[in-house]
Amino acid sequence: MSEFATLTVAGKTHQLPVIEGSEQEKAIDISDLRDQTGYVTLDRGYKNTGATKSAITFLDGEKGILRYRGYPIEQLAEQSNFLEVAYLLIHGNLPTQPEIEDFTRQITVHTLVNEDMKKIFDGFPVNAHPMGVLSSLVCSLTAFYPEPADTRSSVDKLNLNIIRLLAKMPTIAAWSYKNSQGHPVNYPKNKFDYCANFLYMMFALPVEDYTPDPVVVDAMNKLLILHADHEQNCSTSTVRLVGSSKVNLFSAISAGINALWGPLHGGANQEVIEMLEAIRADGGGTRKFIDQAKDKTSGVRLMGFGHRVYKNFDPRAKIIKVACDQILKKLGVDDPILEIAKNLEAAALSDSYFIERKLYPNVDFYSGIIYRALGIPTDMFTVMFALGRLPGWIAQWKEMNEAKEPIGRPRQIYTGERERNYVAMTNR
Ligand code: CMC
Repeated sequence: MSEFATLTVAGKTHQLPVIEGSEQEKAIDISDLRDQTGYVTLDRGYKNTGATKSAITFLDGEKGILRYRGYPIEQLAEQSNFLEVAYLLIHGNLPTQPEIEDFTRQITVHTLVNEDMKKIFDGFPVNAHPMGVLSSLVCSLTAFYPEPADTRSSVDKLNLNIIRLLAKMPTIAAWSYKNSQGHPVNYPKNKFDYCANFLYMMFALPVEDYTPDPVVVDAMNKLLILHADHEQNCSTSTVRLVGSSKVNLFSAISAGINALWGPLHGGANQEVIEMLEAIRADGGGTRKFIDQAKDKTSGVRLMGFGHRVYKNFDPRAKIIKVACDQILKKLGVDDPILEIAKNLEAAALSDSYFIERKLYPNVDFYSGIIYRALGIPTDMFTVMFALGRLPGWIAQWKEMNEAKEPIGRPRQIYTGERERNYVAMTNR
């Protein structure tokens, strides 16, 4: 029997359908609310609003569950690799051997970017933040591959743009780093796999042969998998909202990259390291920083702590913490800020402020320490997040297009002036 929610407003009772997802999570469908009642809902920050139906990622914040297309994140991080996960997210199922070979081959042959794009790189100052460069360059792909995402484009053309973006993003990301160093770029070497090729373009010097360290390649695969999708967060919802106007894929993803950049979202990984460095420079004690984070007037937050949906633990953070110890050990890296991070975590987790608000380390808390050990510079951390999140954004964009979702257009509660008459300048 269908379930309904009953809403009584202005003396009238309305029935709103209740819908249920495949994991039994329930929602009140308010699609007809305004037509039925004349009212809209108010939900700042969308804390209770399901913006779409999606079959890509399932997340249970209370139980700390995260699954891509049904597969637990723990299994994927341990047993899969990034391109396989990208295929899974975008196409819905794990690939067969011929499918992954074809997918990998297609990506491999599209890694070059148009030489004219180098001129755009040249226009940026060397100290430009690589996230700004990345979003600009991804958006500039619209000039080279302008297919719109509406009925004027065939599925084949849209799929080709998906391949192009997956293939070119590591090249653009690595080149944005090279640009920030004032160094010449390394062209992709397609004998390497996806992650190794990125590391080559980042780190190879002209004077020596470069062989990516397999420990570093494995670690990068794991980190990218852990970041690959996270259902309707700030950047993903941005991709869907911008994409809903039927702009080109590259424009929608570029918007997502900008949304990710902020310190409350993907930009937190850079801020965590800067915070840990500040604690170290201050003598290593964590008390002062914890007290600052608790003081609402300080404007300081404990970066890498807290999450909108995870209220017990972030399963990605659990995996990353273990991986962090293992990877640093394998690479023989002794980073003093790891100790500081562990002390800070222990201090916060035993403090009533953090306990009461259910604030736990999130994915960004330990990821920066791993990136540092891999040799990735701090201002590239959020770029690494973007590289990882790319297949998730693409999958969400594709799903939205295929479902023919209407253009995103929220309502508001207007709180400004009532109508008033224009007053000429001389009378003001
Ligand atoms: N340090 C200190 N206090 C905090 C923190 C923090 N990191 N996070 C939340 N709080 C407090 C907040 O002040 C509020 O307190 P009160 O109830 O007394 O007003 C309470 O906890 C609830 O916080 P909120 O801001 O209402 O929670 P939110 O769901 O809107 O924000 C968040 C979630 C992730 C933006 C927030 O926890 C935060 O700013 N964390 C630090 C930034 C960070 O690490 N971001 C990365 C998120 S994970 C990667 C990703 O997917 O983006």
